[in-house]
Amino acid sequence: MYSKRVMDHFLNPRNKGRLEDADAVGRVGNPVCGDVMHIYIKVKDGKIEKIGWETMGCAAAIATSSMLSELAKGKTIDEAMKISKKDIADALEGLPPIKMHCSNLAAEGLQRAIENYLNRDKIIEELMQVVGKEDAMALFLAGIAGIDDLKKASVEEIANIASDEAAERIRKFLKNEG
Ligand code: FES
Repeated sequence: MYSKRVMDHFLNPRNKGRLEDADAVGRVGNPVCGDVMHIYIKVKDGKIEKIGWETMGCAAAIATSSMLSELAKGKTIDEAMKISKKDIADALEGLPPIKMHCSNLAAEGLQRAIENYLNRDKIIEELMQVVGKEDAMALFLAGIAGIDDLKKASVEEIANIASDEAAERIRKFLKNEG
């Protein structure tokens, strides 16, 4: 049911893994299947110089992450922003209709990463209402793009990213908000 291209990208994923020197990260999840994707970008002179990804999901989610990374690399931010789920599915020589939402996840992940890149200072400032600068940066680089995302993240996820002190501050903050 999968095309040769999908199988190739699934079995030999391109640009897989976290980018240690990322400028921004897009974190998206699919509430239906529970799959989660992180897209990391490094931007230079307005272009996507490097891209990486971590995807916990089905074969189509892996293949679409891989293909998206190939399509986006070297593009300007504006061009990369316009990559659609159809572009990704077409480049993979089609996806079964039931799997189209997986390519949507990849396109959305990149768009989120670019938006976060463009709003970086504002997002870090917002996170600094709750935690110190270092933890705000760590959260930002894990794809937590503000207080709304903090509310959506699980306690485990926050504990993995932030220092113990920051995690405690976040817990108290969310309790007061809640
Ligand atoms: S089934 Fe969830 S992303 Fe493919």
